[in-house]
Amino acid sequence: MTEVSRRRLVIGAVTSGVALGAVTVTGCTGPAAAPTARFVPFHGATQTGISALPLPTRGLLASFSVQVRDRAALGGLLAGLTDEIRGLMAGTPPRTRDAAYPPVDSGLLGADPPPDDLSVVVSVGASLFDDRFGLATRRPTELITMPFLANDRLDPQRSHGDLLLALESGHADTLQFALRQLMRRTRGELVLQWLVEGYGRGAADAAAGTTPRNLLGFRDGTANLDARDPAVLDRHVWLPAGADEPEWAVGGSYQAVRIIRMFVEFWDRTQLVEQEALIGRHKISGAPLGMRDEFDDPRYDTDPDGTRIPLDSHIRRANPRTPETAGNLMLRRGFSYTRGFDGAGQLDQGLAFVSYQRSLRQGFLAVQGRLNGERLEEYVVAEGGGFFFALPGVPSEDRFLGDELVG
Ligand code: HEM
Repeated sequence: MTEVSRRRLVIGAVTSGVALGAVTVTGCTGPAAAPTARFVPFHGATQTGISALPLPTRGLLASFSVQVRDRAALGGLLAGLTDEIRGLMAGTPPRTRDAAYPPVDSGLLGADPPPDDLSVVVSVGASLFDDRFGLATRRPTELITMPFLANDRLDPQRSHGDLLLALESGHADTLQFALRQLMRRTRGELVLQWLVEGYGRGAADAAAGTTPRNLLGFRDGTANLDARDPAVLDRHVWLPAGADEPEWAVGGSYQAVRIIRMFVEFWDRTQLVEQEALIGRHKISGAPLGMRDEFDDPRYDTDPDGTRIPLDSHIRRANPRTPETAGNLMLRRGFSYTRGFDGAGQLDQGLAFVSYQRSLRQGFLAVQGRLNGERLEEYVVAEGGGFFFALPGVPSEDRFLGDELVG
Protein backbone atom coordinates (compact mmCIF):
# COMPACT_ATOMS: atom_id res chain seq x y z
CA MET A 1 0.00 0.00 0.00
CA THR A 2 1.37 3.42 -0.88
CA GLU A 3 1.76 6.10 1.71
CA VAL A 4 -1.00 8.10 0.10
CA SER A 5 -3.53 5.31 0.14
CA ARG A 6 -2.68 4.41 3.75
CA ARG A 7 -3.28 8.02 4.75
CA ARG A 8 -6.55 8.04 2.84
CA LEU A 9 -7.72 4.94 4.66
CA VAL A 10 -7.15 6.57 8.01
CA ILE A 11 -9.02 9.68 6.96
CA GLY A 12 -11.81 7.51 5.61
CA ALA A 13 -12.15 5.69 8.92
CA VAL A 14 -12.33 8.92 10.90
CA THR A 15 -14.82 10.63 8.65
CA SER A 16 -17.12 7.68 8.25
CA GLY A 17 -17.40 7.60 12.05
CA VAL A 18 -18.44 11.22 11.96
CA ALA A 19 -20.88 10.62 9.15
CA LEU A 20 -22.59 7.92 11.18
CA GLY A 21 -22.80 9.76 14.43
CA ALA A 22 -21.76 13.21 15.35
CA VAL A 23 -22.51 15.50 12.45
CA THR A 24 -26.10 16.60 12.49
CA VAL A 25 -27.87 17.81 9.41
CA THR A 26 -30.44 20.42 8.69
CA GLY A 27 -33.65 19.65 10.42
CA CYS A 28 -32.04 17.60 13.13
CA THR A 29 -31.14 18.81 16.56
CA GLY A 30 -28.38 16.97 18.33
CA PRO A 31 -24.97 17.29 19.90
CA ALA A 32 -22.77 19.80 18.13
CA ALA A 33 -19.52 18.53 16.59
CA ALA A 34 -16.98 20.15 14.35
CA PRO A 35 -17.66 19.00 10.80
CA THR A 36 -14.88 16.84 9.38
CA ALA A 37 -14.15 17.17 5.72
CA ARG A 38 -14.06 13.94 3.72
CA PHE A 39 -13.79 12.63 0.21
CA VAL A 40 -17.38 12.12 -0.94
CA PRO A 41 -17.64 8.64 -2.48
CA PHE A 42 -18.20 8.83 -6.22
CA HIS A 43 -19.73 5.48 -7.10
CA GLY A 44 -23.41 4.77 -6.58
CA ALA A 45 -26.69 4.06 -8.34
CA THR A 46 -27.39 7.78 -8.15
CA GLN A 47 -24.99 10.72 -8.31
CA THR A 48 -23.74 11.06 -4.77
CA GLY A 49 -23.38 14.85 -4.78
CA ILE A 50 -27.16 15.27 -5.02
CA SER A 51 -27.78 13.88 -1.56
CA ALA A 52 -24.39 14.10 0.22
CA LEU A 53 -24.53 15.67 3.69
CA PRO A 54 -23.60 17.88 5.35
CA LEU A 55 -24.07 20.53 2.70
CA PRO A 56 -20.63 22.03 2.07
CA THR A 57 -19.93 25.74 2.36
CA ARG A 58 -19.31 26.52 -1.30
CA GLY A 59 -21.29 25.91 -4.48
CA LEU A 60 -20.74 26.53 -8.16
CA LEU A 61 -22.86 25.89 -11.24
CA ALA A 62 -21.22 25.94 -14.66
CA SER A 63 -23.21 25.48 -17.86
CA PHE A 64 -21.58 24.42 -21.12
CA SER A 65 -22.39 23.91 -24.75
CA VAL A 66 -21.18 20.61 -26.19
CA GLN A 67 -18.93 21.02 -29.22
CA VAL A 68 -18.34 17.42 -30.30
CA ARG A 69 -20.01 16.28 -33.51
CA ASP A 70 -21.30 12.77 -33.08
CA ARG A 71 -22.52 10.33 -30.52
CA ALA A 72 -19.27 8.39 -30.28
CA ALA A 73 -17.42 11.59 -29.47
CA LEU A 74 -20.09 12.50 -26.94
CA GLY A 75 -19.43 9.14 -25.29
CA GLY A 76 -15.73 9.95 -25.23
CA LEU A 77 -16.47 13.31 -23.62
CA LEU A 78 -18.65 11.74 -20.91
CA ALA A 79 -16.10 9.00 -20.23
CA GLY A 80 -13.30 11.57 -19.89
CA LEU A 81 -15.42 13.76 -17.64
CA THR A 82 -16.24 10.75 -15.46
CA ASP A 83 -12.59 9.78 -15.17
CA GLU A 84 -11.62 13.29 -14.12
CA ILE A 85 -14.47 13.61 -11.59
CA ARG A 86 -13.67 10.20 -10.11
CA GLY A 87 -10.08 11.30 -9.52
CA LEU A 88 -11.01 14.74 -8.20
CA MET A 89 -13.56 13.43 -5.72
CA ALA A 90 -11.10 10.80 -4.47
CA GLY A 91 -8.34 13.39 -4.04
CA THR A 92 -6.04 11.48 -6.40
CA PRO A 93 -2.74 13.37 -6.42
CA PRO A 94 -2.00 14.96 -9.79
CA ARG A 95 0.69 13.28 -11.88
CA THR A 96 3.99 15.09 -12.10
CA ARG A 97 5.83 15.29 -15.39
CA ASP A 98 8.88 16.77 -17.03
CA ALA A 99 9.18 20.50 -16.28
CA ALA A 100 9.59 21.15 -19.98
CA TYR A 101 5.79 20.70 -20.22
CA PRO A 102 3.05 22.67 -18.52
CA PRO A 103 2.09 20.91 -15.25
CA VAL A 104 -0.93 18.59 -15.50
CA ASP A 105 -2.87 20.62 -12.96
CA SER A 106 -3.05 24.19 -11.70
CA GLY A 107 -1.24 23.37 -8.45
CA LEU A 108 -3.91 25.22 -6.47
CA LEU A 109 -4.16 22.40 -3.93
CA GLY A 110 -0.53 21.38 -3.83
CA ALA A 111 0.79 17.89 -4.38
CA ASP A 112 -1.85 16.07 -2.36
CA PRO A 113 -5.38 17.56 -2.49
CA PRO A 114 -6.86 17.37 1.02
CA PRO A 115 -10.40 16.06 1.71
CA ASP A 116 -12.84 18.93 1.27
CA ASP A 117 -16.31 17.43 0.66
CA LEU A 118 -15.90 17.96 -3.07
CA SER A 119 -18.68 16.61 -5.24
CA VAL A 120 -19.52 17.12 -8.89
CA VAL A 121 -22.95 16.41 -10.36
CA VAL A 122 -23.37 16.21 -14.13
CA SER A 123 -26.68 17.05 -15.77
CA VAL A 124 -27.84 17.48 -19.34
CA GLY A 125 -30.22 20.01 -20.86
CA ALA A 126 -33.02 19.49 -23.39
CA SER A 127 -30.79 20.89 -26.14
CA LEU A 128 -28.54 17.80 -25.96
CA PHE A 129 -31.47 15.84 -27.39
CA ASP A 130 -31.71 17.87 -30.62
CA ASP A 131 -30.55 16.32 -33.93
CA ARG A 132 -26.79 16.46 -33.28
CA PHE A 133 -26.42 13.10 -31.56
CA GLY A 134 -29.55 11.23 -32.61
CA LEU A 135 -30.76 11.18 -29.02
CA ALA A 136 -34.24 12.64 -29.57
CA THR A 137 -36.01 9.38 -28.73
CA ARG A 138 -34.01 9.07 -25.53
CA ARG A 139 -34.99 12.44 -24.04
CA PRO A 140 -36.44 12.16 -20.53
CA THR A 141 -40.11 12.79 -21.22
CA GLU A 142 -40.47 15.95 -19.13
CA LEU A 143 -37.16 17.56 -20.04
CA ILE A 144 -37.88 20.83 -21.83
CA THR A 145 -36.08 24.15 -22.16
CA MET A 146 -37.10 26.16 -19.11
CA PRO A 147 -39.93 28.46 -20.20
CA PHE A 148 -40.37 32.03 -19.00
CA LEU A 149 -42.44 31.73 -15.87
CA ALA A 150 -44.46 34.51 -14.30
CA ASN A 151 -42.24 37.32 -13.02
CA ASP A 152 -39.12 36.01 -14.84
CA ARG A 153 -36.57 38.21 -16.56
CA LEU A 154 -34.41 35.43 -17.97
CA ASP A 155 -31.12 36.57 -19.42
CA PRO A 156 -30.16 34.28 -22.33
CA GLN A 157 -26.51 34.77 -21.32
CA ARG A 158 -27.23 33.08 -17.99
CA SER A 159 -29.77 30.47 -18.99
CA HIS A 160 -29.99 26.87 -20.27
CA GLY A 161 -27.12 24.81 -21.72
CA ASP A 162 -26.31 21.32 -23.05
CA LEU A 163 -24.48 20.19 -19.93
CA LEU A 164 -24.37 21.52 -16.38
CA LEU A 165 -21.76 20.83 -13.73
CA ALA A 166 -22.84 21.39 -10.13
CA LEU A 167 -19.79 21.53 -7.87
CA GLU A 168 -19.72 21.76 -4.09
CA SER A 169 -16.89 21.75 -1.59
CA GLY A 170 -15.64 23.28 1.62
CA HIS A 171 -13.45 25.97 0.05
CA ALA A 172 -13.58 28.25 -2.99
CA ASP A 173 -10.13 27.19 -4.19
CA THR A 174 -11.16 23.53 -4.24
CA LEU A 175 -14.01 24.50 -6.56
CA GLN A 176 -11.68 26.47 -8.81
CA PHE A 177 -9.20 23.62 -8.85
CA ALA A 178 -11.89 21.13 -9.86
CA LEU A 179 -13.44 23.45 -12.42
CA ARG A 180 -10.11 24.17 -14.09
CA GLN A 181 -9.21 20.47 -14.21
CA LEU A 182 -12.58 19.61 -15.71
CA MET A 183 -12.38 22.38 -18.30
CA ARG A 184 -8.84 21.48 -19.14
CA ARG A 185 -9.79 17.85 -19.64
CA THR A 186 -12.70 18.80 -21.93
CA ARG A 187 -11.02 21.62 -23.84
CA GLY A 188 -12.41 21.73 -27.38
CA GLU A 189 -15.36 19.57 -26.30
CA LEU A 190 -17.16 21.85 -23.87
CA VAL A 191 -17.47 25.64 -24.05
CA LEU A 192 -18.51 27.55 -20.95
CA GLN A 193 -21.79 29.45 -21.33
CA TRP A 194 -22.49 30.78 -17.84
CA LEU A 195 -21.42 30.28 -14.29
CA VAL A 196 -22.65 31.21 -10.84
CA GLU A 197 -20.71 30.72 -7.65
CA GLY A 198 -21.76 31.10 -4.06
CA TYR A 199 -21.90 29.89 -0.51
CA GLY A 200 -23.99 28.85 2.47
CA ARG A 201 -23.25 27.83 6.03
CA GLY A 202 -24.44 24.29 5.47
CA ALA A 203 -21.72 22.27 7.17
CA ALA A 204 -21.14 24.63 10.08
CA ASP A 205 -24.84 25.05 10.77
CA ALA A 206 -25.40 21.32 10.49
CA ALA A 207 -22.73 20.76 13.12
CA ALA A 208 -24.44 23.29 15.37
CA GLY A 209 -27.84 21.70 14.73
CA THR A 210 -29.19 24.79 12.98
CA THR A 211 -30.29 25.66 9.46
CA PRO A 212 -28.42 28.04 7.10
CA ARG A 213 -29.91 31.43 6.30
CA ASN A 214 -30.35 32.86 2.83
CA LEU A 215 -29.62 36.48 1.90
CA LEU A 216 -33.06 37.61 3.04
CA GLY A 217 -31.92 36.61 6.53
CA PHE A 218 -34.39 33.72 6.87
CA ARG A 219 -33.52 30.11 7.60
CA ASP A 220 -33.69 28.19 4.33
CA GLY A 221 -34.08 24.43 4.31
CA THR A 222 -36.21 23.92 7.42
CA ALA A 223 -38.94 21.95 5.67
CA ASN A 224 -36.65 20.44 3.05
CA LEU A 225 -36.76 16.72 2.30
CA ASP A 226 -34.52 14.64 4.54
CA ALA A 227 -31.68 13.58 2.24
CA ARG A 228 -30.57 10.99 4.81
CA ASP A 229 -33.69 8.93 4.22
CA PRO A 230 -33.35 6.69 1.15
CA ALA A 231 -37.08 5.96 1.12
CA VAL A 232 -37.86 9.68 0.89
CA LEU A 233 -35.38 10.12 -1.96
CA ASP A 234 -36.80 7.08 -3.77
CA ARG A 235 -40.28 8.51 -3.50
CA HIS A 236 -39.54 12.09 -4.53
CA VAL A 237 -36.11 12.44 -6.15
CA TRP A 238 -34.85 9.46 -8.18
CA LEU A 239 -36.47 8.35 -11.40
CA PRO A 240 -37.87 4.88 -10.67
CA ALA A 241 -37.75 1.84 -12.94
CA GLY A 242 -40.97 1.20 -14.79
CA ALA A 243 -41.95 4.86 -15.11
CA ASP A 244 -42.92 6.21 -18.50
CA GLU A 245 -39.31 7.23 -19.11
CA PRO A 246 -36.37 5.88 -21.13
CA GLU A 247 -34.67 3.03 -19.34
CA TRP A 248 -31.23 4.67 -19.27
CA ALA A 249 -32.66 7.45 -17.10
CA VAL A 250 -33.53 5.30 -14.06
CA GLY A 251 -31.66 6.67 -11.04
CA GLY A 252 -31.39 10.13 -12.58
CA SER A 253 -33.30 13.18 -11.41
CA TYR A 254 -34.85 16.27 -12.92
CA GLN A 255 -32.99 19.37 -11.82
CA ALA A 256 -34.49 22.87 -11.79
CA VAL A 257 -32.01 25.73 -11.53
CA ARG A 258 -33.12 29.31 -10.96
CA ILE A 259 -30.77 32.24 -10.53
CA ILE A 260 -33.02 34.45 -8.43
CA ARG A 261 -31.85 37.96 -7.72
CA MET A 262 -33.03 39.56 -4.49
CA PHE A 263 -33.61 43.29 -4.18
CA VAL A 264 -31.91 43.35 -0.82
CA GLU A 265 -31.85 47.13 -0.27
CA PHE A 266 -35.64 47.21 -0.71
CA TRP A 267 -36.00 44.14 1.53
CA ASP A 268 -33.86 45.72 4.24
CA ARG A 269 -36.24 48.71 4.30
CA THR A 270 -39.26 46.46 4.81
CA GLN A 271 -40.88 46.10 8.23
CA LEU A 272 -40.06 42.89 10.05
CA VAL A 273 -43.74 42.00 10.43
CA GLU A 274 -44.15 42.34 6.69
CA GLN A 275 -41.04 40.24 5.94
CA GLU A 276 -42.32 37.51 8.24
CA ALA A 277 -45.81 37.63 6.72
CA LEU A 278 -44.32 37.27 3.23
CA ILE A 279 -42.37 34.16 4.18
CA GLY A 280 -44.79 32.75 6.79
CA ARG A 281 -42.08 32.15 9.38
CA HIS A 282 -40.40 34.10 12.17
CA LYS A 283 -37.12 35.50 10.96
CA ILE A 284 -34.79 34.67 13.80
CA SER A 285 -36.18 31.36 15.07
CA GLY A 286 -37.45 30.08 11.73
CA ALA A 287 -40.63 28.88 13.46
CA PRO A 288 -43.92 29.03 11.54
CA LEU A 289 -45.75 32.25 12.50
CA GLY A 290 -47.37 31.88 15.89
CA MET A 291 -45.23 28.86 16.77
CA ARG A 292 -42.11 28.62 18.94
CA ASP A 293 -39.79 26.08 17.44
CA GLU A 294 -38.33 26.05 13.93
CA PHE A 295 -39.55 22.53 13.29
CA ASP A 296 -43.06 23.00 14.67
CA ASP A 297 -45.84 22.00 12.31
CA PRO A 298 -47.46 25.17 10.87
CA ARG A 299 -50.92 23.62 11.61
CA TYR A 300 -52.73 25.14 8.67
CA ASP A 301 -55.75 23.12 9.75
CA THR A 302 -56.20 25.42 12.75
CA ASP A 303 -55.80 28.52 10.57
CA PRO A 304 -57.99 28.00 7.52
CA ASP A 305 -58.38 31.73 6.81
CA GLY A 306 -54.71 32.59 7.10
CA THR A 307 -55.06 34.78 10.19
CA ARG A 308 -51.82 33.44 11.66
CA ILE A 309 -49.94 32.38 8.51
CA PRO A 310 -51.22 34.36 5.50
CA LEU A 311 -52.61 32.24 2.69
CA ASP A 312 -50.29 34.03 0.27
CA SER A 313 -47.13 33.56 2.34
CA HIS A 314 -44.27 31.76 0.60
CA ILE A 315 -44.32 28.58 2.69
CA ARG A 316 -48.09 28.22 2.57
CA ARG A 317 -48.22 28.58 -1.17
CA ALA A 318 -45.13 26.41 -1.73
CA ASN A 319 -46.51 23.60 0.39
CA PRO A 320 -50.09 23.89 1.65
CA ARG A 321 -49.61 20.43 3.21
CA THR A 322 -52.84 19.00 1.83
CA PRO A 323 -53.30 15.41 0.62
CA GLU A 324 -53.50 16.73 -2.97
CA THR A 325 -50.13 18.48 -2.74
CA ALA A 326 -48.26 15.70 -0.91
CA GLY A 327 -46.76 14.49 -4.22
CA ASN A 328 -45.19 17.88 -5.00
CA LEU A 329 -42.16 17.58 -2.73
CA MET A 330 -38.62 18.20 -3.98
CA LEU A 331 -35.09 18.22 -2.64
CA ARG A 332 -33.74 21.79 -2.52
CA ARG A 333 -29.98 22.24 -2.65
CA GLY A 334 -29.27 25.85 -3.54
CA PHE A 335 -26.80 28.43 -2.29
CA SER A 336 -26.46 32.21 -1.95
CA TYR A 337 -24.53 34.20 -4.53
CA THR A 338 -23.11 37.70 -4.64
CA ARG A 339 -21.91 39.31 -7.88
CA GLY A 340 -20.83 42.81 -6.92
CA PHE A 341 -23.32 45.51 -7.88
CA ASP A 342 -25.25 46.78 -10.85
CA GLY A 343 -25.10 50.06 -12.81
CA ALA A 344 -27.47 51.69 -10.35
CA GLY A 345 -25.19 50.89 -7.42
CA GLN A 346 -27.54 48.21 -6.12
CA LEU A 347 -26.06 45.01 -4.71
CA ASP A 348 -26.39 42.15 -7.17
CA GLN A 349 -27.08 39.11 -5.01
CA GLY A 350 -29.58 36.36 -4.52
CA LEU A 351 -30.29 32.68 -4.43
CA ALA A 352 -28.99 30.05 -6.82
CA PHE A 353 -32.03 27.84 -6.35
CA VAL A 354 -31.47 24.18 -7.21
CA SER A 355 -34.06 21.45 -6.78
CA TYR A 356 -34.05 17.77 -7.65
CA GLN A 357 -37.23 15.81 -8.25
CA ARG A 358 -38.43 12.72 -10.06
CA SER A 359 -40.95 14.73 -12.04
CA LEU A 360 -40.66 18.37 -13.07
CA ARG A 361 -44.41 18.56 -13.49
CA GLN A 362 -45.18 17.12 -10.06
CA GLY A 363 -42.27 18.85 -8.34
CA PHE A 364 -40.84 22.20 -9.40
CA LEU A 365 -43.53 23.21 -11.90
CA ALA A 366 -46.40 22.42 -9.54
CA VAL A 367 -44.79 24.37 -6.69
CA GLN A 368 -43.75 27.27 -8.91
CA GLY A 369 -47.28 27.35 -10.32
CA ARG A 370 -48.63 27.92 -6.82
CA LEU A 371 -45.95 30.54 -6.11
CA ASN A 372 -46.77 32.55 -9.25
CA GLY A 373 -48.08 35.92 -8.12
CA GLU A 374 -46.87 35.47 -4.53
CA ARG A 375 -46.16 38.74 -2.70
CA LEU A 376 -42.47 37.84 -2.39
CA GLU A 377 -42.21 38.50 -6.16
CA GLU A 378 -41.90 42.21 -5.41
CA TYR A 379 -38.51 41.48 -3.86
CA VAL A 380 -37.07 38.84 -6.18
CA VAL A 381 -36.74 38.12 -9.88
CA ALA A 382 -35.44 35.04 -11.71
CA GLU A 383 -32.69 36.12 -14.07
CA GLY A 384 -31.34 32.79 -15.29
CA GLY A 385 -31.04 29.04 -14.80
CA GLY A 386 -32.58 26.18 -16.68
CA PHE A 387 -34.10 22.73 -16.56
CA PHE A 388 -31.66 19.84 -16.63
CA PHE A 389 -31.62 16.11 -16.04
CA ALA A 390 -29.03 14.84 -13.56
CA LEU A 391 -27.63 11.64 -15.05
CA PRO A 392 -27.95 8.36 -13.13
CA GLY A 393 -24.99 7.46 -10.94
CA VAL A 394 -21.94 5.40 -11.86
CA PRO A 395 -22.19 2.09 -10.02
CA SER A 396 -18.69 0.78 -10.74
CA GLU A 397 -15.20 1.52 -12.07
CA ASP A 398 -15.96 0.16 -15.53
CA ARG A 399 -18.93 2.45 -16.14
CA PHE A 400 -19.20 6.16 -16.95
CA LEU A 401 -21.79 8.91 -16.57
CA GLY A 402 -24.41 8.62 -19.29
CA ASP A 403 -22.95 5.43 -20.79
CA GLU A 404 -26.42 3.96 -21.29
CA LEU A 405 -27.66 7.22 -22.78
CA VAL A 406 -25.05 7.23 -25.55
CA GLY A 407 -24.62 3.42 -25.77
C1 HEM B 1 -35.32 34.00 -3.76
C2 HEM B 1 -36.29 33.13 -3.80
C3 HEM B 1 -36.69 32.32 -2.61
C4 HEM B 1 -36.55 32.57 -1.28
C5 HEM B 1 -35.91 33.79 -0.65
C6 HEM B 1 -37.09 31.45 -0.57
C7 HEM B 1 -37.13 31.37 0.80
C8 HEM B 1 -37.70 30.34 1.51
C9 HEM B 1 -37.76 30.26 2.94
C10 HEM B 1 -37.17 31.28 3.89
C11 HEM B 1 -38.40 29.12 3.25
C12 HEM B 1 -38.73 28.61 4.66
C13 HEM B 1 -37.70 27.66 5.20
C14 HEM B 1 -37.71 26.29 4.58
O1 HEM B 1 -38.60 25.47 4.83
O2 HEM B 1 -36.79 26.02 3.81
C15 HEM B 1 -38.75 28.46 2.02
C16 HEM B 1 -39.43 27.28 1.91
C17 HEM B 1 -39.74 26.68 0.72
N1 HEM B 1 -39.51 27.15 -0.53
FE1 HEM B 1 -38.60 28.88 -0.99
N2 HEM B 1 -37.57 30.55 -1.46
C18 HEM B 1 -37.35 31.03 -2.72
C19 HEM B 1 -37.67 30.42 -3.90
C20 HEM B 1 -38.32 29.22 -4.02
C21 HEM B 1 -38.65 28.58 -5.27
C22 HEM B 1 -38.33 29.11 -6.66
C23 HEM B 1 -39.27 27.43 -4.94
C24 HEM B 1 -39.84 26.36 -5.86
C25 HEM B 1 -40.48 26.60 -6.95
C26 HEM B 1 -39.34 27.35 -3.50
C27 HEM B 1 -39.89 26.32 -2.79
C28 HEM B 1 -39.95 26.23 -1.43
C29 HEM B 1 -40.50 25.09 -0.72
C30 HEM B 1 -41.10 23.83 -1.34
C31 HEM B 1 -40.39 25.38 0.63
C32 HEM B 1 -40.83 24.50 1.80
C33 HEM B 1 -42.23 24.83 2.19
C34 HEM B 1 -42.73 23.86 3.26
O3 HEM B 1 -42.64 22.64 3.02
O4 HEM B 1 -43.19 24.33 4.31
N3 HEM B 1 -38.75 28.45 -2.97
N4 HEM B 1 -38.33 29.23 0.97
